[in-house]
Amino acid sequence: MRASLKQKETDPQNYEFDPKTNLKLRNWFVQEKRELAFRKNRTPYSTWVSEIMLQQTRVAAMLPLYEKFMHRFPKPEDLAIAEEEEVFRYWQGLGYYSRAKNLLAGVRILVNEFGGKFPKTLGEALSLPGVGPYTARAILSISYNLPFAVLDGNAKRVLSRLFLFKESGPKADAALQRIADSFLNLESPGDHNEAVMELGARICIPKPLCTECPLQDDCLAYQNGIQESIPEMEKKKKEILLNIRFYILKTKQGILLVRYPERRFFKTIYSLPFLFEGKNPYEADPILDWNLKPTDLGIKFKHTITHHKIQGFVSEAELDQKSEKKILENFRKIRPSIEIKYCNWKNLETEFPSSIAKKIKQTLAKEGTILPGLEK
Ligand code: ADE
Repeated sequence: MRASLKQKETDPQNYEFDPKTNLKLRNWFVQEKRELAFRKNRTPYSTWVSEIMLQQTRVAAMLPLYEKFMHRFPKPEDLAIAEEEEVFRYWQGLGYYSRAKNLLAGVRILVNEFGGKFPKTLGEALSLPGVGPYTARAILSISYNLPFAVLDGNAKRVLSRLFLFKESGPKADAALQRIADSFLNLESPGDHNEAVMELGARICIPKPLCTECPLQDDCLAYQNGIQESIPEMEKKKKEILLNIRFYILKTKQGILLVRYPERRFFKTIYSLPFLFEGKNPYEADPILDWNLKPTDLGIKFKHTITHHKIQGFVSEAELDQKSEKKILENFRKIRPSIEIKYCNWKNLETEFPSSIAKKIKQTLAKEGTILPGLEK
């Protein structure tokens, strides 16, 4: 077995790269890459959309949503004029709606200030909302073939193992980025980046499939038999248990939904109003401080948001005009930025675009709970 590079220090200037390693990776990718919809027509806009969708979402889950999204908004100009709520509806199933909100804001700037043409410099790309270092580098390399190396979670794992880079965390990322830059295949930066990520997604997975790896002979971690312990596991954030009660508040105009950016969850989307209950690290939201006595519907469901394990409960109440007015006055006094809207039971999932809406409906249906006035 022959090491394709020698590690002297963690400074990439001290790594010696064998260009054959790059070539092997490239050949593997050309032969083995998955034919994915987002790899068909790689405009900067389509790469932007797909790379944003792929953050925190697996390829299999994002593909059908990507295709529907691109069918509805094929060009940046189509997306730029869309209403945020419609864009959110097309984002349903992907979660993390701030990504969609930023994408929309960024694409509007692209169309209005850059004439719809994605910039070709890193600095300008980074000036667009929602375009961070990873996204900028991915778009510029994949769609313009410019020499920028990407570093997502998969790429970090591949490079750390290949070059026996043992550190992890934000400080190590800067050194790893320099390694990635030096390793970049300048003849085909886009393919190179995708090849590294693809290898990390399919072979150089946390429990790696080294016998299938085209770079097995080049991998320093493999040669040292420590591939499974590199990179060091970052400490998992401590799980936080939360009880949240959602309120179905029925008014003459429909079910009340609220949105305001200062809250812990659902900052960007409308949701049913909710309160934290019991012991939790967040302050109780005072928005529902009223005299009304909502009825507990006696259902319970589970939901996870990042490291928060949530138990959800649901109450309902009928609001007459007077109590609705009072509640809204209270909302606005405490949260001046609050926006409200109404929906009906049927379109709860599209207007409160979180899987929580679906879970509430499903749990109620399973329990056979009938909500008077909500059959519409
Ligand atoms: N992960 C994120 N973006 C990717 C891409 N373009 N190819 C493979 N894996 C990815």
